[in-house]
Amino acid sequence: MGAIHYYEKERVFKLDTPHTSYLIGIVDEEKFLGHIYYGAKITDYDVRALMRTGEAPFVPSQNNRDRSSFLDAFPMEYPGHGVGDYRESAISVADKNGNTAVQPLYREHKIYAGKPGLPGLPATFGSEEECETLEIVLADEVLDLTVTLYYTAFYDVDVITRSVRVTNHAKEPVYLTKVFSTALDLDAEDYRMLTLHGSWARERQIEYRQIGYGKQSVGSCRGESSHQEHPFVALVSANAGQEQGRVYGFHFVYSGNFLAQVEKNQFDSLRVVLGIHPQDFRWELKQDETFTAPEVVMTYSDAGLGRMTRTLHDLYRKHLIRSPYKDRERPVLINNWEATYFDFNEEKIWSIAKSAAELGVDMLVLDDGWFGKRDGDCSGLGDWDVNETKLRGGLGKLVDQVRSLGMQFGLWFEPEMISEDSDLYRSHPDWAIRIPDRAPMRSRYQLLLDMTRQEVQDYLYEKISGVLRSAAISYVKWDMNRSISDWYSAALPAAQQGELPHRYVLGLYALLERLTAEFPDVLFEGCSGGGGRFDAGMLYYCPQIWCSDDTDAYERTRIQYGTSMIYPISAVGSHVSVVPNHQTGRITPMETRGITAMAGSFGFELDLQKLSEEDKKTVAAQIKQFKEYGPLIHGGKYYRLSDPFTENSAFWSFVAQDDSEVLVQGVVFRTAPNMRRKALRLAGLCPESRYQDTASGEIYTGAALMHGGLLLPQTWGDYCPVMFHLKKIFA
Ligand code: GLA
Repeated sequence: MGAIHYYEKERVFKLDTPHTSYLIGIVDEEKFLGHIYYGAKITDYDVRALMRTGEAPFVPSQNNRDRSSFLDAFPMEYPGHGVGDYRESAISVADKNGNTAVQPLYREHKIYAGKPGLPGLPATFGSEEECETLEIVLADEVLDLTVTLYYTAFYDVDVITRSVRVTNHAKEPVYLTKVFSTALDLDAEDYRMLTLHGSWARERQIEYRQIGYGKQSVGSCRGESSHQEHPFVALVSANAGQEQGRVYGFHFVYSGNFLAQVEKNQFDSLRVVLGIHPQDFRWELKQDETFTAPEVVMTYSDAGLGRMTRTLHDLYRKHLIRSPYKDRERPVLINNWEATYFDFNEEKIWSIAKSAAELGVDMLVLDDGWFGKRDGDCSGLGDWDVNETKLRGGLGKLVDQVRSLGMQFGLWFEPEMISEDSDLYRSHPDWAIRIPDRAPMRSRYQLLLDMTRQEVQDYLYEKISGVLRSAAISYVKWDMNRSISDWYSAALPAAQQGELPHRYVLGLYALLERLTAEFPDVLFEGCSGGGGRFDAGMLYYCPQIWCSDDTDAYERTRIQYGTSMIYPISAVGSHVSVVPNHQTGRITPMETRGITAMAGSFGFELDLQKLSEEDKKTVAAQIKQFKEYGPLIHGGKYYRLSDPFTENSAFWSFVAQDDSEVLVQGVVFRTAPNMRRKALRLAGLCPESRYQDTASGEIYTGAALMHGGLLLPQTWGDYCPVMFHLKKIFA
């Protein structure tokens, strides 16, 4: 088949996916690697003219390469630093003399089937039948440094991934001060920048901004991908919407510090860069050592944000999530956190489990507080031994009891943390990340473990695997309840302290790798004070991630709208909780809470015994419904039908991959009296096919549903739930 070609005469690389092309050129004499084109699929390859090598503003001489204006305008594929391109560079160094310049020029390349893994890092994967990879080696002869660019083009999804490896061949060490994973130069046109911002309990809200001259960015220096900003940026054309317009999406497969930046320059071109944040980054590279920068996923859609979303959902479902759970139906779980917080014993948990089993729940998850001296959030983290004052008879006994109800058992951990009031801290104070002689910043009273240390990883591995072996535990919630500050590792020499943020993430990944390899059948759910580390790096290990500590159904429509831009619905941890809601005090109907939680990996977070008989019936019906529609919700094509940030409703739909059925769900926020019923336009249907509403028996054509719309019911009360299920008529 071949997705990647090198045209020798033209010195052009062409990478194709089903609907997109990406072209790179080598400039003959100087061996600059230039970006030619990224966008809708084209058949031509001789489009080198787009690099505009002959045009150097204000310097129309033959030998214009000696003029800085050429370097400052040329679309560099991986821009070096400090030698005439004044835009943001992709790489910078400090060498033995203190020089910062790098100029990587083309040396050689190879193309092969399949995709290599990234050492120590999560990354998308594909077999030799599924994708092809291009490696371009660039070299800086002065530094004796090579920079290898990796590109993979997939045959089944419109995605090109990029990553970078830097190797020092010189005797002296060199310090890397910036290594971005991708850079893309393109004409500015009419793009806006789409980013996701947020906070604890308000994750992944949507923001569009105009792209002005200069630099605009989002980033995190919190040691995690963060609640506040997201390792993602999209360029969205002015006319773009859910199903039309041009969109470039860039997403980082990484869980630590990042920077995503768009720069508009004097010639009205844009440079997008994405990678590890250069702040707090300085990496010592000794002779023959290689630094690997994590992967960036790039996708182009000429059918709006919807296609970008469906491409990313497909990519992550097929080529990123490794757990066998990616294709398994997810258990409907009940988590005790909002039901009990720290105040529980084995009897309380047992009775929560019993009432949940009666209503059809598959799994009980025991949250924070089961270990060490943990009756509140000031102590105990690090001491992963069961607290037998709370769980009399031990963990094994409780697990067996819960399993005797036909339910599975899951357990909460916060492995990376340490409380100063813990046995672990008393025996290993140097395992905590803190700066000598400086009072540490505590957050939720806790400190972080230095995950760069092998003995810390080993300790956690022994503790967690010991617990998992001690009882039939089917699920782990992997939490992380504070951002990182006070960067200092007692185990690293001064010259390497700048490696701590990235080494922390590598240590975390190494531990996750070990545990997920040893316990492949355990379902790992990521978490970080809700959705503070909801990223593609964690998704590689954890097929689902707790989306937000905000369980309010209305707020969730917004949080999940933003999250759905990138992440498959099966990844979105989502629970029904009580009203008034614990985060907002809002009251929403039980059905509405069910519908919003169902648009995720479904569960409950309340004491079901305390519900009215009517609500209990609703819960049982919701679980039945989820069992019926779960495969469609988790495996289908996702469409956003209305925007909860700008409209009075949130609607979305799941269309079966074979178009045989569609589930429409949503919430109308406020009811107005004396109003006409609204029609909701559907998307992604086959225009000529006929679809039957399984409740009313009404039949419509796809065209009528997409252009005319489906008439919504008259609403009564606020936060009104709406759901339709339609089946295609094949006869
Ligand atoms: C975080 C999680 C919650 C819960 C608590 C326990 O906030 O997001 O779901 O597990 O920690 O302390």
